[in-house]
Amino acid sequence: MTILEDLKILKNEEVAKNYMMMEIKSENIARKAVPGQFVHISLNEKVNGNKNITNDPLLRRPFSIHDVDVERGIVKILYKVVGKGTFLLSRKRANDVLSIMGPLGNGFAIKKDIAKAAIVAGGIGVAPMYFLLKALLKNGVEVDFYLGALSKSELLLLDEISSLGANLHIATDDGSMGKKGRVIDLLYKNLKTVDVTYTCGSKLMMREVVKIALAKGIPVQVSMEEKMACGIGACLSCVCKVKNNEHFEYKRVCAEGPVFDGKSVMMV
Ligand SMILES: Cc1cc2nc3c(=O)[nH]c(=O)nc-3n(C[C@H](O)[C@H](O)[C@H](O)COP(=O)(O)OP(=O)(O)OC[C@H]3O[C@@H](n4cnc5c(N)ncnc54)[C@H](O)[C@@H]3O)c2cc1C
Ligand code: FES
Repeated sequence: MTILEDLKILKNEEVAKNYMMMEIKSENIARKAVPGQFVHISLNEKVNGNKNITNDPLLRRPFSIHDVDVERGIVKILYKVVGKGTFLLSRKRANDVLSIMGPLGNGFAIKKDIAKAAIVAGGIGVAPMYFLLKALLKNGVEVDFYLGALSKSELLLLDEISSLGANLHIATDDGSMGKKGRVIDLLYKNLKTVDVTYTCGSKLMMREVVKIALAKGIPVQVSMEEKMACGIGACLSCVCKVKNNEHFEYKRVCAEGPVFDGKSVMMV
């Protein structure tokens, strides 16, 4: 069941230029969340103009659950400041309260019989993959983690990912760290036999990841991003086209996703 709560911020700190890590107190979300799910955060501020009181921005903003601490009831969000909503979020401080819905959507499927997996993350697409990585490692799965960004300054969570025990492969567009070039080129050269590949990043990147993995007969799960309004399946603003056998249909990213079978959403 979806929970709507007013939740206290514990921390909201810059981890790199324009990237923030927020900790929120929520025993409910921490206990219920699975990797790949998201929360929907209201950032509207009551603006008292001459005559009107408006809510701006009106719509909630979706953010993946980056990590949870079940014992302490803490939920973490890793986000990039890109516009008004994320700017307002970045101005929040410890003890401020946010209206948050979650956990929402369907997360990544982690089958019991997998022994080896690849994770491919581009830029802020790394946000949901850390929680996934922890869950895979806890299940005894060996993980190759492919991480790409424009430059070294935008490569997040390097130490955290390595210290968990993943095999880390890095690519930067400008060559400031790791292999120079796109993370998909690195994947193309290095992807070995794994039971499953998981990816989150730009649509362009994820489409290439799906092509590379499917060519080797490896199933892929992708975490889709679409602009959202309600976040709970009611408004249809977030639909994406999905292939179902020889037919196409539209699925709601907030309700049926955000995680989909890569073959059905990327090969349409
Ligand atoms: C299921 C889901 C999970 C998400 N998880 C995360 C997450 O964990 N961390 C995170 O940082 N973001 C995440 N996002 C994206 C996040 O919701 C948007 O960045 C946010 O809504 C932007 O709000 P805004 O008001 O700041 O920007 P807006 O005013 O809505 O947009 C400002 C500008 O930024 C562009 N923009 C919007 N989103 C992005 C984006 N993601 N990257 C680059 N440019 C963008 C817009 O096209 C526009 O030009 C997720 C989105 C979805 C659907
Ligand atoms: S955001 Fe309303 S249906 Fe998905």
